[in-house]
Amino acid sequence: MKKIQFFDTTLRDGEQTPGVNFDVKEKVRIALQLEKLGVDVIEAGFPISSSGDFECVKAISEAMTTTSVTGLARCREQDILRAHEALKHAKHPQLHIFLATSDVHMQYKLKMTKDEVLASIKHHVTFARKLFDIVQFSPEDATRTDRAFLIEAVQTAILAGAKVINIPDTVGYTNPSEFGQLFRDLKANIPQFDEVIFSSHCHDDLGMAVANSLAAIENGARRVEGAINGIGERAGNTALEEVAVALHIRKDFYQTETNITLNQIKATSDLVSRLSGMPVPRNKAVIGGNAYAHESGIHQDGVLKNPDTYEIITPALVGVQKNSLPLGKLSGRHAFNTRMEELGYSLSEEEQNEAFKRFKNLADVKKEISEADLHALVVGQASETAEDETLAHLQVQYVTGGVQAAVVRTEGKQGVREDAATGAGSIEAIYNTINRLLNQNVTLVNYHIQAITPGQDAQAEVHVVIQNEAHEEIHGIGIDHDVLAASAKAYLNASTKQIPAGKQSFEEAH
Ligand code: KIV
Ligand code: ZN
Repeated sequence: MKKIQFFDTTLRDGEQTPGVNFDVKEKVRIALQLEKLGVDVIEAGFPISSSGDFECVKAISEAMTTTSVTGLARCREQDILRAHEALKHAKHPQLHIFLATSDVHMQYKLKMTKDEVLASIKHHVTFARKLFDIVQFSPEDATRTDRAFLIEAVQTAILAGAKVINIPDTVGYTNPSEFGQLFRDLKANIPQFDEVIFSSHCHDDLGMAVANSLAAIENGARRVEGAINGIGERAGNTALEEVAVALHIRKDFYQTETNITLNQIKATSDLVSRLSGMPVPRNKAVIGGNAYAHESGIHQDGVLKNPDTYEIITPALVGVQKNSLPLGKLSGRHAFNTRMEELGYSLSEEEQNEAFKRFKNLADVKKEISEADLHALVVGQASETAEDETLAHLQVQYVTGGVQAAVVRTEGKQGVREDAATGAGSIEAIYNTINRLLNQNVTLVNYHIQAITPGQDAQAEVHVVIQNEAHEEIHGIGIDHDVLAASAKAYLNASTKQIPAGKQSFEEAH
């Protein structure tokens, strides 16, 4: 069996999704869950791009115990030094450096000749190897690079000391046949093909990222890069959970093994979906809400007789559990803590106490607390931590056909603050009040509300994206039994989030 390494870039390429901004706490929370999932390498950010990204990479480096941590760097010495500074406390640090090799990128973006590109790869990989034992080199836009030049660039990086060569399909242009052939060409022309690790990094512009990644694995790749739920630049990256399950279900074909703990997939997917504000489509492979629903009578009949008739993946395999023992108002601390542990949360005593308090408050208004409610409880708690401004009181006066009014009281670093304002609708009144209270001038770009569970007493989960004066888009989440309170919490969360100051976009950083 060939071992396939999983390289997760949810926190770097995934964060390049417009409107997705994780703060340090959220990134560490996701990284801890990724470690539990068993990914081999976490790309925690792009340290030179901003002080915030630097802090995230540093915090994740310090938090990981078994998982390797890497950061992105261009072929520039200052990028590599900055990445080293952020990664130096990681138990298993790696560096990821890249330089574009396609004609269009070299001519128009880099304005460099082929010889200059080769010289830069040689110099910077050599430089990086003085600081890192494991250096991964990516020839950006590899799938649109002249094949002979790609081989030369890869060979140059290997001779300079790169131990991992990642082949990016930067613009999502390739298809499985072509990508498989690319790996066969590399194998045929690179004498050290089996001594280094070849990796794939695919984007989903033509909807083929997962298929392309699997084709790479079939043809010699031993590392696969991607993001949870397939989030990322434009149409996103390879959805890692889909690759993991495909390799497992079709082990007979792929003959590979991985370190992925499959039953952590659902919890990881839920967390990333909530914190990124990117809902998972119901028909999404592996983790979509409908992935295990059988609608047609013939299918239902077959599944009842023998699940193998129509079910190739069992819900339990990826951690989708039936709510075996629903909790409610009368459930005690022991049952609650046990259930949280079963769901994969290892909460500190203080976190347990806070979560239990929230659970009891929820149980007062909701008869049966489902698994989804419990996940939401933890996410809601994480997004309303001590240093943020939290909602202490909300009062809304609704008048049919008139002007609506809101009073908002918050508690935070600046103590208790209270203000009031009006708006054409209740949400607008609340948001105008929060703007006054925080003395901010932001624009609401997106507002999305969904029920966490079915039923009339469901909790509401609100996602907002606001744009601040620096034109940065910031995502916020709010969860509450009441839709207006959830809306207020989401807006406060986005407004007070410590997003990386002056965060440079990937393109600006080129
Ligand atoms: O898509 C891409 O080319 C990248 C590289 C930095 C690997 O994300
Ligand atoms: Zn990418």
